Amino acid sequence: LSVRAGSYADELVKTAKTVASPGRGILAMDESNATCGKRLASIGLENTEANRQAYRTLLVTVPGLGECISGAILFEETLYQSTTDGRKIVDVLVEQNIVPGIKVDKVRSTPFQWRTVVSIPNGPSALAVKEAAWGLARYAAISQDNGLVPIVEPEILLDGEHGIDRNFEVAQKVWAEVFFYLAENNVMFEGILLKPSMVTPGAECKDKATPEQVAEYTLKLLQRRVPPAVPGIMFLSGGQSEVEATLNLNAMNQAPNPWHVSFSYARALQNTCLKTWGGRPENVKAAQDALLVRAKANSFAQLGKYTG
Ligand code: 13P
Repeated sequence: LSVRAGSYADELVKTAKTVASPGRGILAMDESNATCGKRLASIGLENTEANRQAYRTLLVTVPGLGECISGAILFEETLYQSTTDGRKIVDVLVEQNIVPGIKVDKVRSTPFQWRTVVSIPNGPSALAVKEAAWGLARYAAISQDNGLVPIVEPEILLDGEHGIDRNFEVAQKVWAEVFFYLAENNVMFEGILLKPSMVTPGAECKDKATPEQVAEYTLKLLQRRVPPAVPGIMFLSGGQSEVEATLNLNAMNQAPNPWHVSFSYARALQNTCLKTWGGRPENVKAAQDALLVRAKANSFAQLGKYTG
């Protein structure tokens, strides 16, 4: 199985499979301090360490979260952060049966990014795509060499007036390069997770797509570009509304496919939760319930059983 020599092969496969387990997906809570500041500002809170800690405590202590959430991606600060009652956030996640992950933007020792954004309105140039794909592949290889499952994230941004066909065309090129360079770098496909954006029309496009259309295009892209050895396809929400992201995921899981098609949402899991909290301790329970509602909805969508 292991094309990458090294003692971590079994562990990588096991971790990737655990994250890609039925009815579960990833809670992306890796907002950088700057992005977290924007989210806090939207509910009138200052971007202090205490407020970030309070919010992240709320997220990770939702009772039963691990039934729907298999992994959580953390920002560097959270890796060392404690809950408001003094427990390590990482330990709380493990107790919840959730695999903690780390965004490597800040902890990298090399200038490689785990997430690569491609913007359609101004490009992308072939050279930029090549460079981005190479960077993702090098990051993936280095992660595996160190026993970490890389989440490979080629994100095609939603911004733009382009239609769904243009997104499909660009994504085909980007994914082709990404998988070519992953193979060139001997990355073990059984030990990665892919975190792509869905194929949708640009956010400013006049023609909207139904969940069935998004599913048709996105599954076609998976079939053409992603080897079934990749155990989990964990879609980001990219600015879709909470319900939209759930409906699209559900549509993709209406028929069996070779992968575990699931979610790695930040905004589409957290938006209502954050608003409900509003920074008030008396709202913590309601906010946690709101997060669980989204997590459960997406858990059903992962199984193709979401009914609204
Ligand atoms: P969104 O689901 O908000 O796009 O965030 C996903 C992500 O990229 C965070 O890691």
